[in-house]
Amino acid sequence: MYEDILKRISNLSKIETILFERELFKFDKGIPFFLILKASTKKGRDLFFETLDIHEKKWFEEKLNKLEEVNPKEAEQSGKIIEKILNTIPELVASVEKDGKKIKKQIISNREIMKAGFHTNFTISDQMKGIPFPPLEKAADPGQKIIELPDPKKVKLMTNDIIDVIDKRRSRRKFTDNPLTLLELSYLLWATQGIEKLVNNNHISLRTVPSAGARHPFETYLAVHNVSDLDPGLYRYLPIEHQLVFLEKIPELKSKLNKAAFDQNFVGECAVTFLWGCVPYRGEWRYTLTSHKVMLIDIGHVCQNLYLACESINCGTCAVGAYNQEEIDELLNLDGKNEFIIYLAPVGKLNRKKE
Ligand SMILES: Cc1cc2nc3c(=O)[nH]c(=O)nc-3n(C[C@H](O)[C@H](O)[C@H](O)COP(=O)(O)O)c2cc1C
Repeated sequence: MYEDILKRISNLSKIETILFERELFKFDKGIPFFLILKASTKKGRDLFFETLDIHEKKWFEEKLNKLEEVNPKEAEQSGKIIEKILNTIPELVASVEKDGKKIKKQIISNREIMKAGFHTNFTISDQMKGIPFPPLEKAADPGQKIIELPDPKKVKLMTNDIIDVIDKRRSRRKFTDNPLTLLELSYLLWATQGIEKLVNNNHISLRTVPSAGARHPFETYLAVHNVSDLDPGLYRYLPIEHQLVFLEKIPELKSKLNKAAFDQNFVGECAVTFLWGCVPYRGEWRYTLTSHKVMLIDIGHVCQNLYLACESINCGTCAVGAYNQEEIDELLNLDGKNEFIIYLAPVGKLNRKKE
């Protein structure tokens, strides 16, 4: 049973397999395929298993062992779904090939943003026109709850040996259930966006991280899940005051974050998720068309400081660039135009013995 279907699947080319999986995932995360695999004869299953490497085969076998016997009606329906998908593959391949040329062109044009276009893209900026400095931070609204943060430099470091910290830095995706203290959070916020000095009539901030033209075009949002003395919910950092402003409690915040990060579940399964919003005008005001390259570089410095600061207090983090832009912006109430999320980083306590 289902041998024909499984034979067709095992004969798919690499591109066809990717397109098949993409389509299949739209149906209950691929469940119909597992159902026919379970309901198939051993011969049919083996046909498919021959296309897998040893780890993939083990993964599928474990998954199938966990599945209960399949009801024949359900299997028949699943078979129909799979056949329907298989029949659309030639059309999908043709459309991908047609798009290929367009995408190559787009790639070449996207490369332009990576270049320093200071002389080729010269334009009169808003700064040159005398338009006032954009604000350094989004101020809290009157009536919003403000949380004072402790002195970040009072944090107890596990190590202050810079060589040790750089040497140990890794992307961490597994955290313990231990909470972060407010002092540790204060330290991480200071390390990533803390202001050392305001200059130029308080229009420019000098911070713990560099930023082209000291534009610092970011706002730090925190999805707090497990931080002592903080209720779970969404917060924003006020770097000038070194305070937090409470924004709102969001039901099922963890699972909403995980979903928006394409089921990378460590994004919500942590003590606190850092989400950096970009306010592009702060950079565009001075650098117009060249601002976007430098703003993207700037955020890398911010996240690297988070990595290093985390390592120094037995915490871990992982930079996350793969997320659904619209879903995350909507979750944070950002308009996606004048402000949008550009990077995420979950933070949690580590169990080094287990690593
Ligand atoms: C810009 C950027 C985006 C990243 N996005 C993700 C991501 O979405 N998911 C993930 O698990 N890791 C992500 N990472 C982490 C990388 O996978 C990681 O840095 C890489 O595997 C090297 O491992 P290391 O950081 O431990 O040296 C990202 C890293 C960077 C710098």
